[in-house]
Amino acid sequence: MTGDKITIAIDGYSACGKSTLARELADQLGYIFIDSGAMYRGVTLYALRNELISDGTINKDQLVKSLSSISLRFVKSEKSSIARLHLNNEDVEDEIRRKPVSDHVSPVSAIKEVRTFLVDQQQRMGVHGGIVMDGRDIGTVVFPKAELKLFITASIDVRVKRRLLELKEKGIEASEQEVRDNLTQRDYIDSTRAESPLKQAEDAIVIDNSVLSRAEQLSVALELATQKINSLIRT
Ligand code: CDP
Repeated sequence: MTGDKITIAIDGYSACGKSTLARELADQLGYIFIDSGAMYRGVTLYALRNELISDGTINKDQLVKSLSSISLRFVKSEKSSIARLHLNNEDVEDEIRRKPVSDHVSPVSAIKEVRTFLVDQQQRMGVHGGIVMDGRDIGTVVFPKAELKLFITASIDVRVKRRLLELKEKGIEASEQEVRDNLTQRDYIDSTRAESPLKQAEDAIVIDNSVLSRAEQLSVALELATQKINSLIRT
């Protein structure tokens, strides 16, 4: 805990609403929100644009050598309060949500050097506390000492529906089957990879939000965060 601000780690499967929850929780608490998945998507977009992935095969050696040329920043614009990912000074927030990136991000994220590169940046962002970060390894690897760890789950059907709606709102076409296949495949790769696999931290609190509304899940998380902050202030 730094001052009266804690670190909150939110992990879970693809499209279970982690980022929405993390963003809203950070807004309510006046904390920084970081979508770590966007950073993995940024590296994947760089690899695709630079032809470091062809026919699904990643040129790992070249990608690892290129990491020092990749700059990722979250930038808030005047138009929206939501920070957008910039890759080498270009706003790529829309492009990183599209199918080519979604199709390749999990294999890229399984590369040890990619993880070391991003985890180091994520840890520096959280050095002063007052941060809500969501991803797959936040409570286990990035912030193992986070004062509050949440592990979010939801049924696959609910997750497919939510992701389809989210893509539609962004004007991105996708079929239900494509989305289902992508989520299932990413969940599998993310939870079985050797490096920092997705798993629930022992001290994480599980929230199954399959039947919770956005407001309900926020209220549950806010209550947990407030309890934790108050209990630490008292000690
Ligand atoms: O939004 P969604 O839940 O579909 O995924 P995301 O959070 O944007 O993350 C995209 C991918 O990045 C995941 O499927 C993981 O392969 C990878 N990732 C990771 O390995 N570690 C993290 N901390 C965050 C994301």
